[in-house]
Amino acid sequence: MRKKIVAGNWKMNTSVAEGVELAKGIVAKVAEISKGVTLIIAPPFTHLVPVAEVLKGSPIGLSAQNCATEPKGAFTGEVSAAMLKGIGCNYTILGHSERREYYGENADKLTKKIAMAFENGLKVIYCVGEKLEDRNFNQHFDVVSKQISDVLFTLAPEKMANVIIAYEPVWAIGTGETATAEQAQEMHAFIRSTLSAHFGEKIAENTTVLYGGSCKPSNAKELFACPDIDGGLIGGASLKADDFIAIAQAW
Ligand code: 13P
Repeated sequence: MRKKIVAGNWKMNTSVAEGVELAKGIVAKVAEISKGVTLIIAPPFTHLVPVAEVLKGSPIGLSAQNCATEPKGAFTGEVSAAMLKGIGCNYTILGHSERREYYGENADKLTKKIAMAFENGLKVIYCVGEKLEDRNFNQHFDVVSKQISDVLFTLAPEKMANVIIAYEPVWAIGTGETATAEQAQEMHAFIRSTLSAHFGEKIAENTTVLYGGSCKPSNAKELFACPDIDGGLIGGASLKADDFIAIAQAW
């Protein structure tokens, strides 16, 4: 059975002190969430050590927002998967559209990063999603299919147990414009059928597929009610403990 997950991607927001307070606020309310829902938070690198301390003893997972393609060495400014594992991360986000767009992350780099994450025992939240022009030209399925096949299809099937997919249409990220439940469900079903064609139905059925893009307490219920939507990857609304918890209560 696939897991229901609500993950908060804090992006480059909050000071360390604010991040620690936010994490404390989430921990204080985690008991209000149904047992079948997993919460994950992905603070900036600088926050991970103190936030890991706050999360100790709680069921909340800790994720990075990125990791290096290389294991160690002369790679100024990079943070390795081993370093992340060493300070208590269980996950890393990879392939977020902001990293694809602004930092040149392509299939080759993402394939290396996933290998590093797995070698070090991190699960991966792998992001896919089309831009507005792709959707306008009716190429959204092709774009998402390629983002999946170029990277995830290089993996041995058993590795898929450590992959969570996040569908984040770029036009819905931080814009206040959400995909309709129909648009999201349609793409999530397509993602599952794409996985099924390559890995088989069992793996497709067991893979958690999250929706991201202006997901908030007011629309989470409708989105999460869709049969192929297993939760959310939340940006803006994950920066308020009450909103993040309210989203996780949407089932
Ligand atoms: P918003 O929820 O702010 O639209 O961001 C979504 C996102 O990019 C999460 O990774």
